[in-house]
Amino acid sequence: MEKTMMMKRKPSLSFLHHCCFLLSLFSIFASFRCSPSHNYADALTKSLLYFEAQRSGRLPYNQRVTWRDNSGLTDGLEQGVDLVGGYYDAGDHVKFGLPMAFTVTMLSWSIIEYSEYIAGAGELEHAMEAIKWGTDYFIKAHTSPNVLWAEVGDGYTDHYCWQRPEDMTTSRQAYKIDENNPGSDLAGETAAAMAAASIVFKKTNPHYSHLLLHHAQQLFEFGDKYRGKYDESIGVVKNYYTSVSGHEDELLWAAMWLYKATDNHQYLSYVIDNADSFGGVGWSITEFSWDVKFAGIQVLASQLLIEEKHKKYKDVLEKYQSKAEYYICSCLNKNNGTKHNVRFTPGGLLYVRQWNNMQYVSSGAFLVSVYSNLLQKLNQKNLKCHGGEVTPHELFQFTKSQVDYILGSNPLNMSYLVGFGPNFPKRVHHRGASIVSYRENKGFIGCTQGYDNWYGSTDPNPNIVVGALVGGPDHNDEFTDKRGNYMQTEACTYNTSPLVGIFAKLNYLENMVLHASY
Ligand SMILES: *[C@@H]1O[C@H](CO)[C@@H](O)[C@H](O)[C@H]1NC(C)=O
Ligand SMILES: *[C@@H]1O[C@H](CO)[C@@H](O)[C@H](O)[C@H]1NC(C)=O
Repeated sequence: MEKTMMMKRKPSLSFLHHCCFLLSLFSIFASFRCSPSHNYADALTKSLLYFEAQRSGRLPYNQRVTWRDNSGLTDGLEQGVDLVGGYYDAGDHVKFGLPMAFTVTMLSWSIIEYSEYIAGAGELEHAMEAIKWGTDYFIKAHTSPNVLWAEVGDGYTDHYCWQRPEDMTTSRQAYKIDENNPGSDLAGETAAAMAAASIVFKKTNPHYSHLLLHHAQQLFEFGDKYRGKYDESIGVVKNYYTSVSGHEDELLWAAMWLYKATDNHQYLSYVIDNADSFGGVGWSITEFSWDVKFAGIQVLASQLLIEEKHKKYKDVLEKYQSKAEYYICSCLNKNNGTKHNVRFTPGGLLYVRQWNNMQYVSSGAFLVSVYSNLLQKLNQKNLKCHGGEVTPHELFQFTKSQVDYILGSNPLNMSYLVGFGPNFPKRVHHRGASIVSYRENKGFIGCTQGYDNWYGSTDPNPNIVVGALVGGPDHNDEFTDKRGNYMQTEACTYNTSPLVGIFAKLNYLENMVLHASY
């Protein structure tokens, strides 16, 4: 579905022209090389369609991804709780609470940073719908102050089957955390998601915003009071989404978002008082993900330095900031020594690890983009890394380079955003997409039948999961478009969510430059 641009599309003017205009606009270095640009508005529109493809539950009248139909309509029934809705995390049908919540937090952060650009591209409503599909589910899953349903289905039985979600015959057992089975990481991340989303809905839907905040506050209290890692309480999540980094990062993350949402001093104190003991100012880390939130917390804490009223916490906030800068410098390959830097592929893509590397690219590109804005606001001209100073503009150029790689500026000329451009993965590891659409053929397709007739096929998927960001290439920029190659061809909701804001900003900048050049 093509969207009509609100702004005039650029006429057939060479990008070189824009680029050089950009050059003079920002008066940057001779080393700046004109880089290709892509249709970021199209990428933004497509990224939001992906969340519709991942919907579980009863699909609404305005569902745009029409190869999908209702699914998981009895989720929670066995446990006597309504758990219909939410998102499938990736190419399977388990509803995993932790990555789902992180996805919603990052979608919300995208809107909080870049709402005017998303609105300018006419996509704000879709972005808010994507958040609400998650938060509506979290409201259902949070059945009492100290009970949160953490997962529906389980990876073991789910992975035994290759079925469309509409045909699902696998176990829909639901798992929860409570006072006796704590999960501070899950409670914390869900609190963060709901607090961040409450900021998004504050103006347009104050009642909903208030409701989200209420849940977020209760969940944070629950997570803080009953400490523990959720994978110790819910064994089935192990091997899928084990919280390796523990629960301290999520508690700080939740408190930070709650402070942003409420301005309540109690949450700020939590972030300040626990900075040391929870590793907030101790961990130098080169990864930001559904598991490890420290870099995100550190960037949010750095943002507090803008306001005069936080001056009395300057010491601690600056410690957070120095760790944020460590992370940013690591992405730019400007820390002291290889073990303090993220690796790159020869084609210039951040490379953290083999399995679903793109999640680290999109989350890293987002943080660097946010930090580039922050530096400008702090009137702190440059970021000082061991390897040299970096301007805010160079920081954003880094973000752009990662996004452009994703969209096709790479050695294989392959867009890793599915459905974007002429060349993208055709055999995405995705049950629903790889089997004929339920709307076209309602004949039941069984558990192993799916493996025999669809998974094993070398044909392209019959349905295109538009807007999905797949795991991506290996350390050598190589990529094999095979359904069985799940490390590279599976997509996850948290891969795409940080891109929403960046696509919008890139689209805005491109149009701004265009506009200015006339
Ligand atoms: C950089 O790392 C090297 C090797 O670990 C060390 O000897 C040196 O002191 C470091 N430089 C700075 C400025 O930290
Ligand atoms: C990618 O595109 C460039 C420029 O059009 C071309 O020179 C190159 O051969 C292409 N590479 C592949 C692997 O298709």
